[in-house]
Amino acid sequence: MSPSESSGLAVLASGSGSILEAIVAAGLPVGLVVVDRPCRALDVAGDAGLEGRLVARDRFDAGFDRAAYTTQVVELLVAEGMEIVAMAGFMTVLGAGLFDVFGGRVLNTHPSLLPAFPGAHAVRDALAYGVKVTGCTVHVATEQVDHGPILAQEAVPVLSGDDEASLHERIKQVERRLYPATLHEVLASA
Ligand code: GRF
Repeated sequence: MSPSESSGLAVLASGSGSILEAIVAAGLPVGLVVVDRPCRALDVAGDAGLEGRLVARDRFDAGFDRAAYTTQVVELLVAEGMEIVAMAGFMTVLGAGLFDVFGGRVLNTHPSLLPAFPGAHAVRDALAYGVKVTGCTVHVATEQVDHGPILAQEAVPVLSGDDEASLHERIKQVERRLYPATLHEVLASA
């Protein structure tokens, strides 16, 4: 059975979960939601009747054991029979162990037109630079953060008076359409 028919799609999230909501609303077969901290995304999963699992980070400082944390997440994904992993605002960078097992099957959405403005503050960085157009990128994730083959991009104009929140919300409006549509294409071709 291909992932488009089964529910082998895992979504990883850390925040408000609005991209996850859009993925669910688009009818994608989400089999598991993993979060790294207590967050609204876990409630979104519960409200949608999806299995949601908290794999809590024990620390956020330099002592964080990224490899061990990655192993915990990968073991859960494998145990639950996941085949494709969609990161949707997951704020922990996972290590090589994820790509050893799921290489080429990890997708991400990022709120800039990559390769411009990678990293955790893409919208803030784009505003600070003074670009007039930014946007979002759906790509295959690799061990190098916000890198990897681009599957879809869409531009979003920066408006005078935009702040980080207003610009990010307009970018997310596009992500909520573009990411599910791209995931549908990926699952159909899997
Ligand atoms: C999105 O802009 C995504 O690209 C970024 O985090 C945001 C997640 O938004 N990595 P939400 O928590 O789903 O609302």
